[in-house]
Amino acid sequence: MNHSISLTVNGARRDFVLDDPRVTLLDLLRERLHLTGTKKGCDRGQCGACTILVDGKRINSCLALAISHEGADIVTIEGVARGDQLHPVQAAFIAHDGFQCGFCTPGQIMSAIGMMQEAQAGNDPERIRECMSGNLCRCGAYAGIVDAVLEAQAGADETNRRRSA
Ligand code: FES
Ligand code: FES
Repeated sequence: MNHSISLTVNGARRDFVLDDPRVTLLDLLRERLHLTGTKKGCDRGQCGACTILVDGKRINSCLALAISHEGADIVTIEGVARGDQLHPVQAAFIAHDGFQCGFCTPGQIMSAIGMMQEAQAGNDPERIRECMSGNLCRCGAYAGIVDAVLEAQAGADETNRRRSA
């Protein structure tokens, strides 16, 4: 039996017919839309490489059934830059060497963006480490990752301060 679902992915509406209700958002993004920036690491919710935003919240897309997210608004790593202008978190990862092989990086960046939107960690490095503990890096680039998030958070705080001044 086929199932029809609609999603908004990086601002564009997408319609799908699923012939298997067990298709995950991760496989839908990678195999049907060829958005391969979202990585498949463990495929069992243990590494965070597949992190995306669904309705503004970060989730492990390998654990999310596509059919359960009818109408959802999805943002992947391909959707965070504005043309040639990198998202501030992307730019901060480059500035602080927040990666080595880069495999975990899309998930790290999406998790950082989600965490900043959740306003959970502020500028506390320990809280950032805790809030991003679901995103593993086999290369051990954690110091650069935390520095990058701190810089991006400081930039966001400054922007908010100017807006409210
Ligand atoms: S691939 Fe989803 S958590 Fe590892
Ligand atoms: S940069 Fe290689 S796994 Fe994180």
